[in-house]
Amino acid sequence: MARVFVTRQLPGAALDRLRAEHETDVWPDRVPPTYDQLLTHTAGAEGLISLLTDAIDVRLIAGAPRLRAISNYAVGTDNIDLAAAAGRGIPVGNTPDVLTDATADLAFALLLAAARKLPEAARAVRDGDWLTWEPAAHLGQSVHGATLGIVGLGRIGRAVAQRARGFEMEVLATATGTAPGLPLDALLERSDFVSLHCPLTVATHHLIDASALRRMRPTAILVNTARGPIVDQAALQRALEDGTIAGAALDVTDPEPMAPDHPLLAAPNLLVTPHIGSATTVARERMAELAVENLLAGLAGRPMPHQANAPGAPAAAEAARHTNATR
Ligand code: DGY
Repeated sequence: MARVFVTRQLPGAALDRLRAEHETDVWPDRVPPTYDQLLTHTAGAEGLISLLTDAIDVRLIAGAPRLRAISNYAVGTDNIDLAAAAGRGIPVGNTPDVLTDATADLAFALLLAAARKLPEAARAVRDGDWLTWEPAAHLGQSVHGATLGIVGLGRIGRAVAQRARGFEMEVLATATGTAPGLPLDALLERSDFVSLHCPLTVATHHLIDASALRRMRPTAILVNTARGPIVDQAALQRALEDGTIAGAALDVTDPEPMAPDHPLLAAPNLLVTPHIGSATTVARERMAELAVENLLAGLAGRPMPHQANAPGAPAAAEAARHTNATR
């Protein structure tokens, strides 16, 4: 029986499986442990289930000499120093596949909501501004037949492309791995909607900066369900204010959470949701099951079903560290 720390309650019954085999300490609060609390709780732990809000950095790993397995309750692993874990021989698990459809659905929901100005229209009803049926009120953009540019054609990007085909959209994509694709600039120039699905790495940090935004069409809408720091938010704010692009829908921001008085939230034509891409009951319970399976395997010395820092794993090769973690 190993000592395990889980940094938050998880939905479903998966943690019962962990409790049956290991001495399991689950952080009970709604807000994450602070970095110092994380240090304290992992100091004697052999296993750790972390969330994307937990910075699992080189110091934390060094401060947990008995740690043998880490399992992230997320597909993204930018909150973890994968190389530091690998250096200690600690496998790091993640949860791909089980959240692909939920996240792709949310990306498409954001795209539709921004294109058809759903937040503004819904607000008008509540504000008593629905005076009559008006020919020229709440006019949005056509999604059907428009061009969608996907930055990062991995699992989630492909699932978004599949949904776009139902809307008879032209789908463009940047090159991913060995799959060919358009250069980013060409994709930005040709797309009515740009949806981000790349991991956060050193190479993708602020990938969408002022010059990328200038490449986009003044009618274009940016959708981000990947990681906040992929977008330079100050540049996005300016682009929305001066009409460089028509709108943006973000499920991820930098930082998270975003304070209600954050200047970006004052920008026009902006929709922000609180990182809910995978937030369906089914997806979040399956993530919990997979996170537990990864940890049980790691602690037993078996290969994890999904290990992000296995030699040759793309995340291991490109890992950017700690950039999305909130302390
Ligand atoms: C992830 O898994 O990386 C998402 O951002 C949260 O589900």
